[in-house]
Amino acid sequence: METENELLLAIESSCDETSVAVIRNGSEVLSNIIASQINSHRRFGGVVPEVASRHHVEQITLCIDEALSEAEVSVDELSAVAVTYGPGLVGALLIGVSAAKAFAWAHDLPLIPVNHMAGHIYAARLVEPLSFPLMALLVSGGHTELVYMKEDGAYQIIGETRDDAAGEAYDKVGRVLGLPYPSGREIDELAHKGSDTFHFPRAMIKEDNYDFSFSGLKSSFINTVHNAEQREEILNKEDLAASFQASVIEVLTTKTLRACREYPVKQLIVAGGVAANKGLREALEKMVAEELPDVGLIIPPLKLCGDNAAMIGAAAHIEMEKGHTADYYLNAVPGLSFN
Ligand code: KG4
Ligand code: ZN
Repeated sequence: METENELLLAIESSCDETSVAVIRNGSEVLSNIIASQINSHRRFGGVVPEVASRHHVEQITLCIDEALSEAEVSVDELSAVAVTYGPGLVGALLIGVSAAKAFAWAHDLPLIPVNHMAGHIYAARLVEPLSFPLMALLVSGGHTELVYMKEDGAYQIIGETRDDAAGEAYDKVGRVLGLPYPSGREIDELAHKGSDTFHFPRAMIKEDNYDFSFSGLKSSFINTVHNAEQREEILNKEDLAASFQASVIEVLTTKTLRACREYPVKQLIVAGGVAANKGLREALEKMVAEELPDVGLIIPPLKLCGDNAAMIGAAAHIEMEKGHTADYYLNAVPGLSFN
């Protein structure tokens, strides 16, 4: 179904970013409008689903207009409309899905459903072409997974978190430190000013599988802070952050290295909001340079690590090639997974 000048309008609304992009041939970003709602959620210490849906309703048509005008593309030049249909918050997803269906129907365009996590992986395609087989380390607010891909569009989860996602652990620990939501970036910054003096546990690091667990680390962190408070002792926030981050990074890099040695991979992709973490990026760059000289590492730029529609357009290009289109019965699937 590929055309020489395939222009996709992609829509993302799975959580707290309303985003619309125009993508040419699956890899060229002509526009990528991202309306973040984070200021509205921050005072609640997390994303409030009802508030998220209301913001998406207000923003979606404005974002569609802006994405088309920034890309200088008219509706009749579009090849298809792509939309995230899961995983995510059901009410939030439904706004994007409804908008995409209406747009596709009104302009008689094919509708392409996209898995949000596939989108995170395909953000890498906006940086450089993919070489298969490859391994993807997906680290976001809701997911922590190692995904093996033999070819475009084929996802095999070889390991995942048994409890909290990496980003979730960052956000929960940040709350205990009194940091605003989401806390990943702030903890990353604090961590660079401190050192690993607390030696928190590295859960499951020695186990012969690719699964993760971050709830023990989170509890250990919270207990350390609460015990100190009871003793009226003040702990160094930078060292706490550095110790927490050291544990997360050591577990993620160790398991990813093992997976890349076990599977015949040509590339390693790191994706999702936590891929914005400076400490993690540096550690993975060092690991690949020293231990995996034949593996190419792709970590997308910060703007493409968080939720955005450009990555949805990149993943949609592959779905389009495979002829995976949806009809107007397409529904949001909040618990959508690869398997
Ligand atoms: O992928 P994403 O934007 O949304 C989901 O699909 O979940 O990821 C958001 C998560 C949040 O938990 C946030 O704290 C985390 O990514 N995050 C970071 C950093 N920037 C964002 N975590 C660690 N270090 C960062 N620099
Ligand atoms: Zn995401």
